[in-house]
Amino acid sequence: MSLQGKKIIVGISGGIAAYKTLSLIRLLISNGAQVKVICTQNALQFVTVLTIESLSQNNVYYDTFGSRQMATEHVSHADWGDLFIVAPATANIIGKMAHGIADDALSTTLLTFRKHILIAPAMNVNMFENPVLQDNLQLLIKRGTVVLDPEYGFLACGTCGKGRMPEPETLLEAVRNALAGGDTAVMSQTNGILRGKKILVTAGATVENIDPVRYISNHSSGQMGVAIADKFAASGADVTLLLGKAQYKPQNSSVRVVETPTAELMHNAATKEWERTDVAVLAAAVADYRPAEIAASKIKKSGQTLTLQLEKTPDILAALGKSKHKGQTLIGFALETDNEVANAKKKLSEKNADVIVLNSLRDEGAGFNVQTNKVSFITSNSIEALPLKSKNEIANDIVRLVAERVK
Ligand SMILES: Cc1cc2nc3c(=O)[nH]c(=O)nc-3n(C[C@H](O)[C@H](O)[C@H](O)COP(=O)(O)O)c2cc1C
Repeated sequence: MSLQGKKIIVGISGGIAAYKTLSLIRLLISNGAQVKVICTQNALQFVTVLTIESLSQNNVYYDTFGSRQMATEHVSHADWGDLFIVAPATANIIGKMAHGIADDALSTTLLTFRKHILIAPAMNVNMFENPVLQDNLQLLIKRGTVVLDPEYGFLACGTCGKGRMPEPETLLEAVRNALAGGDTAVMSQTNGILRGKKILVTAGATVENIDPVRYISNHSSGQMGVAIADKFAASGADVTLLLGKAQYKPQNSSVRVVETPTAELMHNAATKEWERTDVAVLAAAVADYRPAEIAASKIKKSGQTLTLQLEKTPDILAALGKSKHKGQTLIGFALETDNEVANAKKKLSEKNADVIVLNSLRDEGAGFNVQTNKVSFITSNSIEALPLKSKNEIANDIVRLVAERVK
């Protein structure tokens, strides 16, 4: 989505990650947005007015009573913006936002602003995990603020843990999504229910070797499953993606990707992860059969026909269904070409799944290598047929469906 003509307010509070926000401002401008920056006084310990004004091509607002233009700049700024992103959001500004404190230019404008608000908390891991901070985040999420989860990694304070502000490119993507009604909608509708939930997603095609040169695979691009992983991550969940051969990679850097090229490797990883998983969504196109033996060297061309002996691969959905315990949700995908609903219902009960996402290759615009899909959600007592939608929208629907069940 282009940001042409969009008016973005960037709030900067006094955290070390403020230097990264300078790149965010540049990215927003180069993508066509207009940017106004509001800083706390403490933010100016980390970045300078001159740098911000040069990059944003606008005056920085940081002094509630020092207006160079009009007396109620907090109101005019709030009216101007389409979206407000606070990056980095300190523990302090989060506390003020959660409790309606308006004692500086940033907090006063935030309290006046009525549209999308995104915040990117960034701080030391102990500050982030402090129940006070977590409670404040929950209060904000309940009121519709989108909280962009900090990442794990090395922190400026010298420790390692969760608290690092996402990279500017990730923040830009979040702004885009929010303006497109994407992840903002997911975040506010899931209301933080999925925050910290362990989600396992599989995506892509598996590759079953015949010899060192050839393999058996399928046309799956991985787009649907990768979109699902991204949307769950955007809802604050802790996502592990088991990825086969795929043309897509997750955008959200908090998604933990485990490469699992074969059915066997995907099965082993999935069964290992399952014990500590709350929800599994198995969207990968896993081979049902693989060569019984993989030739050690390239099979030579000889004779008019060649017979390959195939053997069944392990059934991942069935394996997870078998060991499913109370509180876990198991979602499988079914791609059918005939008797779709009956086959999906059979799969649901035989594999002990909670939902089957059914898609048919017969529907125009559905299936492999297209941006759209047409699916139905099949449960033991309901069938919800969705219209043709983009794979991103379907991923949002799946996240919402899971949030409903988890609630
Ligand atoms: C070097 C340094 C780095 C800091 N980094 C952070 C940070 O990353 N996150 C945070 O919440 N506070 C951080 N603080 C503390 C805040 O600056 C402090 O709580 C301040 O009152 C925040 O004010 P503000 O929210 O009005 O900008 C840091 C302080 C110092 C001295």
